[in-house]
Amino acid sequence: AKVSFHHGDGAVDIIEADDGISVMRAAVTNGVAGIVGECGGQAMCATCHVYVREEYLEGLSGIGGDEDEMLDCTASPRDAVRSRLGCQLRAGEDFAEIEVDVPAEQS
Ligand code: FES
Repeated sequence: AKVSFHHGDGAVDIIEADDGISVMRAAVTNGVAGIVGECGGQAMCATCHVYVREEYLEGLSGIGGDEDEMLDCTASPRDAVRSRLGCQLRAGEDFAEIEVDVPAEQS
């Protein structure tokens, strides 16, 4: 699945992720700047925060309880519609293609 990370300076990283790989994991294993993933994908750190572009919101799994709590602790402001934890969005399960904006800060 294709995952596009849009950075604040206009740069874009495009990563090809196998099924089951999360947006966070795709970023971290490919050295994408601005995604940390401190807790390793347990929905316990909020350093994998991303803003999903509107056209890719449909079809994503719902926000879980842990994710919802962590989204209230993000370094950059939570967007009511677009904010998600990258570790909770998986290629194949949630999307075939996704584009996200990387927040200015993760901690
Ligand atoms: Fe920690 Fe996603 S990696 S909440």
